[in-house]
Amino acid sequence: MISAARVLVVVALLAQAKTLLGRPFRPRSTRTEPDPSFAVTVTLGGKQYVNKGLVGFGLIPSNFTESTGDTIGGIGSAIALKRGSFAKNADGTFQGTIIAQPDRGFNIDGTIDYQGRQHEIDFVLSPYYDDDNLSFEDGLQTLKLTYRDTLLYTERAARKTTGLDALGVRPAELLSHFLTIEDPPLPIAPSNGHLALDLEGLVLNADGTFWVSDEYGPYIYLMSPQGQLIETVQPPEAILPLVNSKLNFTSETDPTTGRAGNQGFEGLTVDASGKTLYALLQSATIQDGGSDKSTSRFTRLLAYDISDALLVRPHVIGEWVVPLPVSKKDNTRAASEVHLVSDGVFLVLARDGDGHGGDDAKSSYKQADLLDIRNATDIHGTKFDDPAHPIAVNGVLDESITPGTYVSFVDFIDDTQLARFGVHNGKPVDQTLIDAKWESLALAPCLDPSFPDDFFLFTAADNDFISTQGISLGKPFNAGLDVDNQFMVFRLTLPGAATGDHA
Ligand SMILES: *[C@@H]1O[C@H](CO)[C@@H](O)[C@H](O)[C@H]1NC(C)=O
Ligand SMILES: *[C@@H]1O[C@H](CO)[C@@H](O)[C@H](O)[C@H]1NC(C)=O
Ligand SMILES: *[C@@H]1O[C@H](CO)[C@@H](O)[C@H](O)[C@H]1NC(C)=O
Ligand SMILES: *[C@@H]1O[C@H](CO)[C@@H](O)[C@H](O)[C@H]1NC(C)=O
Repeated sequence: MISAARVLVVVALLAQAKTLLGRPFRPRSTRTEPDPSFAVTVTLGGKQYVNKGLVGFGLIPSNFTESTGDTIGGIGSAIALKRGSFAKNADGTFQGTIIAQPDRGFNIDGTIDYQGRQHEIDFVLSPYYDDDNLSFEDGLQTLKLTYRDTLLYTERAARKTTGLDALGVRPAELLSHFLTIEDPPLPIAPSNGHLALDLEGLVLNADGTFWVSDEYGPYIYLMSPQGQLIETVQPPEAILPLVNSKLNFTSETDPTTGRAGNQGFEGLTVDASGKTLYALLQSATIQDGGSDKSTSRFTRLLAYDISDALLVRPHVIGEWVVPLPVSKKDNTRAASEVHLVSDGVFLVLARDGDGHGGDDAKSSYKQADLLDIRNATDIHGTKFDDPAHPIAVNGVLDESITPGTYVSFVDFIDDTQLARFGVHNGKPVDQTLIDAKWESLALAPCLDPSFPDDFFLFTAADNDFISTQGISLGKPFNAGLDVDNQFMVFRLTLPGAATGDHA
C-alpha cells in the first residue's frame, strides 16, 4: 500500500516537472562572451577586424500571413534597425525592431502586381556564446521574432507601386516649377501604368523619411514616412539600361549597356552623419563584362550627397570599382548588400545561389566581406560615366583604375558555427538547411564596456516567398517547398565603426 505522504510527494514532483516542461526554454550561455576559439581575425588598413562567431538564429515561418493577407516573404531583401529601438535589457538580452523590405512578391511563375512595402518585426536577442550544439528548436530561442505591421508604398497621384516587369517608360515629369524639380523617366508596368519596383536596398532617415533602391531603374527613391514617393534619383548614364541608346527597364532581357537584368542596386547604406548615401550595383554593367558570370566581377559603388535632398538633388560625389570575389571556375559571387562600417570601409555581402530554395543544397560561398575604398580611384565625373568607355573589357580592369581592397571576412556557412544552432549546409533538404539568398545587413552595438568596438551583425534571407501554403494577392499558391524566412546574428569587432543605423 502506498502511504498518503508518498502520494503527496509524487504529486508534488509531477507538478514540478510540469512547470519545468511548461517553462519556455531559453538557452543561456555559460559564457558572457563568445568562446575565443571561434575568433577569425583579418587585418585591413593596419586594423584588426574579428568575427567572434554566430550568436543568434531565428525565423518567421514560410506560411506566416501579414496584415494585408499576403504571405510574408522576400523580407531579407533589405533590413534596417528602426531608429532608437535597440536596447539592452536588465537580464542581458537585447531587444529592438527590424524594418524588413521584400522585393517584388511571389514571382516564380512571372512578375505580379505586388505593391512595395516594409514590415515592422520586433526581436529579442539572447546571444548564445557556448560551443555546445543546440537543437534546431532550442537555437530558435536565441532570436525571437514577432511580426507587428506592414506599410504599403505609393507613388505619384497616390498610385500603388507594382512588382510587374518594367516594360514601359513614363516620360520625365516636372514636379515643381518653382524649384524646377523633375522626375526622370520612370520604369512602369504598361498594363496599369504604375511605377514598377523590384526593391533591394533600404536606409532609414532620422526624420522618418527613407531611401529605397531597386533593380529596374536601377533607381534610388526617397519615400515619405507614410510610404509615398518624394523624389527619384537616376544613376549615371553608364549604369542606365540602354538598348541602342534608348531606356528599357525590363528585367527579362539584358540591355546593350548599363546594368544587367536583375543586377541592380542591391545595396544601399548611409554614413553616420546621414549626409552621404552609398549604392552598390550587384555585378558589372554590360559594357564592363556584366553579360557573363565569368567577366562580371568589376562592379561599381556610388556615393551621393544627400545633405539637403529636398532642396538640392542628390548628386554623385564619388564612384569606385569593387572587385567582387570569384569561384574556382572564375564565376562572380555577386553582391547582395553593402553596409558602411567607418569612413571608406564597408561590409559587402557576396554569395552564390545555393542553399534552401536555391539551385543546389550545398552552398560554397556566402560571406560578409570587408571593402576599403580609401586607396581606390574615384572615377566619378570621368569618361567612365559614358557607356562607350567601359572600366573593364571582358573582365580585364582598365589599367588606370585602382579598385577597392576586398578582404574575406564573415563566413555564413561555417559548419561548426551553423551546428551550434542545429543548422547545416548541403543535404538533407529540410527546415534546418541554411537558406540560399542572404541579402541584408544591419549593425547594432553590443553595448559591452569591455569591448566598445563590438557589434551585432544582423542578416536575413530572401526566401522568394517559397511556401506550400502561400497567399499572393489574395489567392492561395503552392510553391512545392517550404523555405522559412531565416535570420542570423554574428558578433564582430569592427574598430572605429560609426554606423548610421542606430542613432
Ligand atoms: C593604402 O595605402 C597605404 C599607403 O600605401 C597603405 O599603407 C595601406 O595599407 C593601404 N590600404 C589598403 C586598404 O590597401
Ligand atoms: C503554417 O504551417 C504550420 C505547419 O503546417 C501550421 O501549424 C500553421 O497553422 C500554419 N500557419 C498558417 C498561418 O497557415
Ligand atoms: C557539433 O556538431 C558538429 C557538426 O555536426 C560536430 O562536428 C561537433 O563535434 C559537434 N560538437 C559537439 C560539442 O557536440
Ligand atoms: C523593352 O524591351 C522589351 C523586350 O525586348 C519590349 O517588349 C518592350 O516593349 C521594350 N520597352 C520599351 C519601352 O521599348
